[in-house]
Order: sequence, then structure tokens, then C-alpha cells
Amino acid sequence: MTSEVVLGLAKGRTLEAELDLLARLDIAPLEDLHTSRKLVFATNQPDLKIMVLRGMDVATYVEHGIADLGMTGRDTLLEHGGSGFYEPLDLGLGRCQMIVAGLADEGDLPARLKVATKFTTRAKQYYASSGIQVDIIRLYGAMELAPVTGLAHRIVDLVETGNTLRANGLVPLDMIEEISTRLIVNKIAYKTKFARIRSLIDALEQAVADTSLTTHDKTA
Ligand code: PRP
Repeated sequence: MTSEVVLGLAKGRTLEAELDLLARLDIAPLEDLHTSRKLVFATNQPDLKIMVLRGMDVATYVEHGIADLGMTGRDTLLEHGGSGFYEPLDLGLGRCQMIVAGLADEGDLPARLKVATKFTTRAKQYYASSGIQVDIIRLYGAMELAPVTGLAHRIVDLVETGNTLRANGLVPLDMIEEISTRLIVNKIAYKTKFARIRSLIDALEQAVADTSLTTHDKTA
């Protein structure tokens, strides 16, 4: 008997790249994920279903075993901080950096800074380990607006091209983490559905290795 495997994908910027990677393993959802309002999708592989989740929720679904595997950004895993899953593979998608940024012309700053971020856990750790006392302000998006409007002095956010920072007169001040999409696997499912999950991990690992070889060839 083959048991069903559920894979949680993070909606947003990296979804397309995650689907491209799966397509290379001959895994494809039976419906268009972008146009359907469904959240669970059958695929061309009868024993594999795909759930489309908020990035921050992928780790929660995998931790609780509702999804057996997940693909989500390291930024969300750092915030989640949970156990209950393995992180066997860097999928190399959605590469960016978690940084501290501030206005290019900051002027005089108070002793205690206000820092806006959606990554409150990692930001608190960062400032605690630097011995700097700050007030963290939780935001859910458009972080760059916070220093521009005076809501906060600094932000902790993701930067990919740097265009959003530049467009808002901000500069990167420190790099906190290298971020990319990771594969996570529920620890119990890894045992109970070992053969299917292991073959998926191996195939993904091979596809990622082939991709980086191709990328290397292009730049050689
Ligand atoms: C992310 C991030 C930055 C921007 C960085 O926001 O929070 O704002 O992308 O990309 P860049 O360096 O290539 O300009 P996103 O567009 O995902 O929206 P959000 O503000 O809702 O998080």
C-alpha cells in the first residue's frame, strides 16, 4: 500500500520556482495554482498532494504533521524556531539576504533605536547579541516606509536586488543572514513514509545539483 505524501509550498515570490523544480521531477499539480481558489491540489502523482500556504505557516503545518514536507524560506524558519522537522536540503531558490537598513542621511539618532520588522524573533536575537537596546515594532510589509515616515530608525528586512532600499533612500548597514528556500520534513513522517520521502529528497537534491551545474556552466 502506498501512503499519501503532502507537500506544503509557500505562496508568493518563490512559488513559481518551486513548481519549476517539481516539474523537473515530473510532479505537476492537476490545476493551475495561481487561478484556483483551492488550497489543496492533487498532482499527476496519485500519492502526492500539494498545499499552498503562507510562508510563515509552512513550518507549522510540517511540524504538526499535516504536511509531510514543506518548501519555505529560511527567514520563516528562523522566526518559527520550531522543532519536529528536519531541514535536509537548501533548494537554492529565492536567494536574498536579511539585513539591517537605515536612511542614507540618518542625522542624530537617539540612544535607544526603534526597529521595524516582520522578523521580530531574529531581530531581537541580533540586537541582544550586539548588546544594543532597541524597541522592536512589528510590521507586516512595506518595511522601507518606516524610516522614511519616522515610525522607526532602522528596519530588519529582506533585500534581493536592493532596488526597494534605493528607491526609498535607504542603505544596508549590516547583513544578518543569507536566506534561501529550504526543504523541511516532518520527523515522524520521515520514518513512517521513509521510502517515498527519501526518494523525493534524493530527486530534489539531484535536480538542485544539476541546476547549480548548469548555472556554473553559463558563467564559466
Ligand atoms: C520584499 C522585501 C523588500 C523587497 C526587497 O518585499 O520585504 O521590500 O522585497 O526586494 P529588492 O531588494 O529586490 O527590492 P515584498 O515585495 O516581498 O513585499 P512585502 O513588503 O509585502 O514583504
